[in-house]
Amino acid sequence: MDEFHIGGRVATEIFLDQLGIAANHHVLDVGCGLGGASRFAALRYGCQVTSVDLTPEYIETGNVMCQWLGLAGRIDLQVENAIALPHADNTFDGAFLLHVGMNIADKQALISELYRVVRPGGKLGIYDVMRVNAGDLAFPVPWATEPGGSSVSPPEVYTSAMKSAGFKIIAQRNRRDFALDFFAQIKKKVSDAGGPPPLGLHILMGETAPVKIRNMIENISRDLLAPVELIAVKEA
Ligand SMILES: C[S@@+](CC[C@H](N)C(=O)[O-])C[C@H]1O[C@@H](n2cnc3c(N)ncnc32)[C@H](O)[C@@H]1O
Repeated sequence: MDEFHIGGRVATEIFLDQLGIAANHHVLDVGCGLGGASRFAALRYGCQVTSVDLTPEYIETGNVMCQWLGLAGRIDLQVENAIALPHADNTFDGAFLLHVGMNIADKQALISELYRVVRPGGKLGIYDVMRVNAGDLAFPVPWATEPGGSSVSPPEVYTSAMKSAGFKIIAQRNRRDFALDFFAQIKKKVSDAGGPPPLGLHILMGETAPVKIRNMIENISRDLLAPVELIAVKEA
């Protein structure tokens, strides 16, 4: 339940492995939620992680989980807004965000702020749900109850913001098939077990979790939305 994005831990691993994170790196997890990807990064690469999120309850819970795992010295979760970070210029060796941009209307402000805090040569990885074709979306979805609350954008909005901030895009990949396979696996697990497990994303999504998940599957199946990976480097 601490990996609040399509594909869970498997998606995190495939995505973060493209960022070249090393043990002497200090990276930023933007919109970290409960910090599942931060803990994965600290354990897999041996790096230091600073993690920011707007939601105080997620930060409080995430820091407790880091203490349980003896990771509190290597990961620091802080309540901050991704578009106005308190960190100095060039602080981080890299930054990543998973399923956050759908809640942030001003992608240019977000990406320019990340450009500011990443050092030259550092990478930025984005794994967000993006608008891949026109058409009416089914709502509610996990990040919005109605269209007015959603800032889901096409990949071109991200790539043009990245380029104009000064990033060079080095990889872009639509993860539609992976997402549909992931949802099919979840559906089978839930049906085989006769219901969802005691702990899962349905806890974070609340009572409307089933309809939000159904709508996500519909929006992705109709090829209107897709999770997309973007990897860029801040040129030295
Ligand atoms: C779908 S969750 C993803 C959480 C986490 N990245 C993960 O994959 O498990 C989106 C998160 O973005 C956070 N968020 C939305 N807007 C934000 C902003 N402007 N600054 C920081 N966090 C933000 C929300 O509080 C929420 O925890």
